[in-house]
Amino acid sequence: MRMVVLGLGYLGATHAACMAELGHEVLGIEVDAEKRAQLAAGEVPFYEPGLPELLKKHIDSGALKVSGSYAEAAEFADVFFIAVGTPQKKGEYSADLSYVESTIDELVPLLSDDALILGKSTVPVGTARRLSERADELAKDIQVEIAWNPEFLREGFAVKDTLHPDRIVVGVFPGGGAEKVCREIYGRMIADGTPFIVSDPPTAELVKTSANAFLATKISFINAIAEVCDAAGADVAAIADAIGYDARIGRKFLNAGLGFGGGCLPKDIRAFMARAGELGAAEALSFLREVDNVNMRRRTRMVEITREVCRGSLLGKRIAVLGAAFKPESDDVRDSPALNVAGQIQLQGASVAVYDPKAMQNSRRLFPTLDYATSAQEACGEADVVLVLTEWQEFVNLDPYEMAQVVRERNVIDGRLCLPVEKWCQAGWNYRS
Ligand code: UDX
Repeated sequence: MRMVVLGLGYLGATHAACMAELGHEVLGIEVDAEKRAQLAAGEVPFYEPGLPELLKKHIDSGALKVSGSYAEAAEFADVFFIAVGTPQKKGEYSADLSYVESTIDELVPLLSDDALILGKSTVPVGTARRLSERADELAKDIQVEIAWNPEFLREGFAVKDTLHPDRIVVGVFPGGGAEKVCREIYGRMIADGTPFIVSDPPTAELVKTSANAFLATKISFINAIAEVCDAAGADVAAIADAIGYDARIGRKFLNAGLGFGGGCLPKDIRAFMARAGELGAAEALSFLREVDNVNMRRRTRMVEITREVCRGSLLGKRIAVLGAAFKPESDDVRDSPALNVAGQIQLQGASVAVYDPKAMQNSRRLFPTLDYATSAQEACGEADVVLVLTEWQEFVNLDPYEMAQVVRERNVIDGRLCLPVEKWCQAGWNYRS
């Protein structure tokens, strides 16, 4: 099939390359000229394992093309995926839908044939209906169908999650052809047994928001238990393991530590609360405010522990921060807990040296006032405390004896419960978590 993907960020670039991998002919539309040039040359402007190879393969074969022209998009196909961002509005909880809306405003007036627009972006419930009405107003003597087909990919596993999803969800308005088209697009996956769930658009929109809200709740639940463990002298990791054996609970997403960040979970739970408020159902999601609060407290708690280790004051101390990405296998620093902690520590008078295997460029751009090192060893040079804030394998594998040679004091705080504790303690480190 021929199809267009509107927006080639983390979601769109992956989706476009994976659709080409499924055998489709794909045109990706990206408005940022610099990103477009990179993608057209077969380069991925962000770190995502496996994606550069896939993208290059399909750019080279011609199955995937990149353009900045909506006119070209309108000519190319009659199936369009919306994959643009829905960030949090400045100073508000709600989602900024201006990018999603502008794809409709720019595309629909250019269409000369009936078309299907499939939304992949995470949007507040009710968005598909609003966009459908907007498309009807803009369409000239043609039918434009809108349906919602949310994406559940995780950064770091984006290619795998897109090619082998846990489920495919499509929310369609009555009488439309979206279900049939999606069965064709995802035919190979459906044949492989991937559950294919058809619902109405509000349900599909809510499937995505509910999934992210549940994941965020799971993380904050174990972090709330971690607060109690701190007070009671118990071991939260052992509790996670023990309760995780109960299949109803499950061990995944019960890793206590610095909490969640990134471009999805934090803003999605806030947008969900805001939308529930608009719908008069604010009370139903009041627990999500606490999920957010628990999560944000992890960051201040990390700063407190660092201050405790520094005997009450961070002034003049040298702190090594290992990790800047919001999670390993990503260079994404959006709402990164690690950089938030680094910033707070610097504000309290410490000098902070940050190192991350992949996220240095993005960190420098977003947090230009922090100091950056080119290796973990350099970041730890003369450090009073070493903080491990993103669980990159490179940090898990660090040799505590070697690291002991470069620091001023052997204090390590494991913000992700990822270090081999005994090994660090044997090497003479004061280990906190
Ligand atoms: C998430 C959802 O997992 C994905 O399905 C959705 O499509 C987009 O949002 P992503 O943001 O890529 O994906 O990362 P994820 O792996 O979910 O991690 C989110 C955050 O939670 C990270 O900061 C991670 O460090 C943290 N986390 C995760 C924990 O603190 N503990 C855990 O047990 C798991």
